[in-house]
Amino acid sequence: MIRLKNEKEIAGIRASGKLLAETLQETLKLVADGITTRELDSYARSRIEGGGGRPAFLGYMNYPASICISLNNEVIHGIPGPRKLRNGDLVSIDLGVDLNGYFSDSAVTVAVGTTTPRRERLMRVTRECLEHAVAQALPGNRISDISRAVYEHATKNGCGVVREYCGHGTGFAMHEDPQVPNYVGSGPNPRLKEGMVLAIEPMVNAGTGDIELLEDGWTVVTADGRDSAHFEHTVVVLRDRMEILTHFH
Ligand code: MF3
Ligand code: CO
Repeated sequence: MIRLKNEKEIAGIRASGKLLAETLQETLKLVADGITTRELDSYARSRIEGGGGRPAFLGYMNYPASICISLNNEVIHGIPGPRKLRNGDLVSIDLGVDLNGYFSDSAVTVAVGTTTPRRERLMRVTRECLEHAVAQALPGNRISDISRAVYEHATKNGCGVVREYCGHGTGFAMHEDPQVPNYVGSGPNPRLKEGMVLAIEPMVNAGTGDIELLEDGWTVVTADGRDSAHFEHTVVVLRDRMEILTHFH
């Protein structure tokens, strides 16, 4: 069941998205050679709590941290720990905020210092996948218009698209209907309506889209060991346009 949000509820999710974006932006400023992923996690947690929110991932299905940090060949759900970032690493940071019961979800991939042209290109292509997808989040379109935008841009650029994990509705809970796949399949394909809040999140691999799960039960890695990038925004479909709720300023 897709739960549409009214104006007051959208305002609540907008506030949640703003706290998320500020937290993400400030956490990114700490990304540098030598910092541990745990330090980034603690910073994000205290920033969210300082803003009156709660890290939505913490404790979700027993997830042990406040954010996900996935490096290089890791696709999503990397668990923060004692690992240090190194110059040239690709770092994907994924973050969820619950502010007064309103949920937002966003992710970004950056490089530590300077990296290779191949890694820069993968980040650019994935960021563009998200931009093209978000531009389709208009009333009257369907979920498949979002999915197709991601899939076509990624594959046209020789990249692989992850199929096992999808974007999703959000707002009243971290995950709501509908699913927002990054490929066009045969699943439900609802029409987009005013009041829908969606987390759109392309996960794009430099090689094939195939993935594996590590023994920690969380970390998703590419099957071929090549790099992966992940960008995500929470967006709301309005009467005649869309609005990104996790936009950086
Ligand atoms: N950001 C992820 C998603 O959109 C959720 C992370 S799973 C968690 O589905 F357990 F870490 F929260
Ligand atoms: Co998400």
